[in-house]
Amino acid sequence: MAFNVLVTRSIPEAGQRLLREADASVHVNPHDRPMRVDEIVAAVADVDGVLCLLTDRIDANVLEAASRCVGFANYAVGYENVDLARATELGIMVSNTPGVLTETTADLTWALLLATARRIIEGDTMVRQGRFHGWGPMLLLGADVFGRTLGIVGAGRIGTAVARRAHGFGMHVLYAETCGKGTIEALGATCATLDELLRESDFVSLHVPLTDQTRHLIGREQLASMRPSAILINTSRGQVVDEKALIDALRSGVIAGAGLDVFEREPALTPGLADLHNVVVTPHIGSATTTTRTTMATMAAGNLIDMLRGRVPANLVNPEVLPLRRQALGLHEA
Ligand code: DGY
Repeated sequence: MAFNVLVTRSIPEAGQRLLREADASVHVNPHDRPMRVDEIVAAVADVDGVLCLLTDRIDANVLEAASRCVGFANYAVGYENVDLARATELGIMVSNTPGVLTETTADLTWALLLATARRIIEGDTMVRQGRFHGWGPMLLLGADVFGRTLGIVGAGRIGTAVARRAHGFGMHVLYAETCGKGTIEALGATCATLDELLRESDFVSLHVPLTDQTRHLIGREQLASMRPSAILINTSRGQVVDEKALIDALRSGVIAGAGLDVFEREPALTPGLADLHNVVVTPHIGSATTTTRTTMATMAAGNLIDMLRGRVPANLVNPEVLPLRRQALGLHEA
């Protein structure tokens, strides 16, 4: 075998097959749980590359232990789990899986928006528990979606895909905190400041990456500026929202509801969140379709194979590393 590769958790077979076909000896975490940092530290010492997950903390200790590794291919579009600055200093390439999960995550965003607005989970529970005693004029009244205003916070690929779906609902779309990669303007969306967007939107949907600037982007003050009828949707990263402030806002009627696929202390929920009837929660399944997860697996594997073969992977997120790698290995473009 030419290369030793660590896959930190079993991913769809197509990705693992690709690695094996590239003549890699593939070591997959045998447990159906994330590896602990100490387990990763021990495992990376002998491998040439790692396919890792957003649940793996790839910190300085891991990177320093990975002295043979050319790179870490993250199986996610987000890569805040990797200490990118340290990886770059050490000459280690890092890649992600952008684009392939855009539409799937946009679909889930809409599922949460509709489920929260139309109280789908409460209705489902009522019917299953035998508490539905016939049509009622006041039964589970929700919020209209059609014709309302949708605020997209972070108008990159996913935010733009969410906005495109809003067309079918005749919605007015505002956007703020744009990442500059999308084409949301062409959809007729209106640029706004975050303050304007929060004040004017009936639905606020978060699509920013987690950075030092976006951590707690939505806190007590921002929630207070939203409409009492507003619904917050988060399919980005949990730490973008101050979950304690959100719980207080939902409890006291500062906003009407929330649909959350991600959580501040994931997988733990802030106490009180699960007791709220006006929240719909899903377990970080934005990209969780068979097709998308398979494509993510082959994309991450492809990135890793390129790194192992001395090529620049298509989805390299720390291109600053290249001079260092070129120097060390005589790297050439893919
Ligand atoms: C990502 O890719 O960053 C998602 O959160 C998981 O697919």
